[in-house]
Amino acid sequence: MSIVSTLSILALAASTLAQKCPIILEGRVPAASTPATFDTPESLFDPKNVKGEGLKFADLLTLPKLAKPSLFDKDTQAISLSISDKSIFAPSPTNKQTGFRRVELIMAKNNGTDSSTVGQRVIHFSIQKDDTKAFNTSHEYQLMFLEDAKFSTNQVAVKTGTVAGLEKLKNPGRSGSGAAGAPKGNGTEKADPKKKGEDPKKKDAEDPACSGMPLPAGTRKAKRAVAERQAKAAVGNTIIVQGNVNTDIGVLFETEFTGGGVWHNFGIVMDYEKNTTAILYSTDANPLKEVVKPTKNEIAGQGQHHFGMLKKPTGEGLKDVTKEGFQQSPVNEAIIYGGIFIEDGAKDCISNAP
Ligand SMILES: *[C@@H]1O[C@H](CO)[C@@H](O)[C@H](O)[C@H]1NC(C)=O
Ligand SMILES: *[C@@H]1O[C@H](CO)[C@@H](O)[C@H](O)[C@H]1NC(C)=O
Ligand SMILES: *[C@@H]1O[C@H](CO)[C@@H](O)[C@H](O)[C@H]1NC(C)=O
Ligand SMILES: *[C@@H]1O[C@H](CO)[C@@H](O)[C@H](O)[C@H]1NC(C)=O
Repeated sequence: MSIVSTLSILALAASTLAQKCPIILEGRVPAASTPATFDTPESLFDPKNVKGEGLKFADLLTLPKLAKPSLFDKDTQAISLSISDKSIFAPSPTNKQTGFRRVELIMAKNNGTDSSTVGQRVIHFSIQKDDTKAFNTSHEYQLMFLEDAKFSTNQVAVKTGTVAGLEKLKNPGRSGSGAAGAPKGNGTEKADPKKKGEDPKKKDAEDPACSGMPLPAGTRKAKRAVAERQAKAAVGNTIIVQGNVNTDIGVLFETEFTGGGVWHNFGIVMDYEKNTTAILYSTDANPLKEVVKPTKNEIAGQGQHHFGMLKKPTGEGLKDVTKEGFQQSPVNEAIIYGGIFIEDGAKDCISNAP
């Protein structure tokens, strides 16, 4: 290929990347904002929700000065959101969610029936681990989710930690890899992030998340216990994106949740007319790339986008996960968000870079 044609391809690529689609909801925090702003009507987010009863956002969030801004933050700021033992949300005075620890931001204009959940929309956000306030990967965390207006499901949910039912969700009980709604493209991407040409039968033993775990030459039961531990280790440090949680659509995408100041950037493309979800992803300042093609999903029901952290309890056979189960104490964990906005993705207008 000649230099000239390479350059023209680069020029074309650059011109098609920039953020150019209409913004439906803006959640990028102006430089002048302080933590106290989040408790006032001037905030881009609802000052009342979602946080522990009696707490203020000013006590729960900081605006950290980071080495690098998130992909779509230029003159805007990152937000660190944290949970403590007091992060018990009470939707009403008689309904205290003692099973959860929660802190989430909801854009103030996202009232459940607004225009952020019609047509084609791209949910943009970047997340970063706060290495000084680490997650406990024994628990399941919901990071970003769209909860429908009837509070009956999450049409899409971004999670980390030990996600309940994940193994089943990764292999939904459907026949044929090409079935409608099959997870993530043709499935090969997420199935094995390792080298090509490997014997797939060897992949569990070679999983880097399992290295150092000797496989006991033993009973079936012992092997199953090891397999379960491996599954947990593998998901503990993973970000997954799940389709409608009340269906068997399952995991659309997963990637390692690396720390050390790495930004994980998402563009979740919701086509409310075709009922599909596609996923764009990149790290740090790299432009977003499509990692999951439009995939059938049940996304009707509008609702609200939550950005933050909902830590679920551990425990077997819980009947009401909002009130039961185990939460360690004391807890002091955080997640960093940046570049939150929802754009109009009509006519495939999707911004890959600022
Ligand atoms: C929600 O917001 C939309 C758009 O601003 C508005 O038309 C609608 O009346 C609002 N609904 C409620 C229940 O406030
Ligand atoms: C499956 O997806 C991978 C990764 O995106 C791609 O390289 C491969 O060609 C695809 N295979 C089929 C049969 O579509
Ligand atoms: C998308 O889902 C809605 C709600 O279930 C349904 O009314 C509509 O017909 C679906 N659209 C397509 C193209 O399947
Ligand atoms: C992580 O959570 C589990 C389950 O709640 C708990 O038993 C364990 O002590 C926690 N680990 C740390 C390091 O806090």
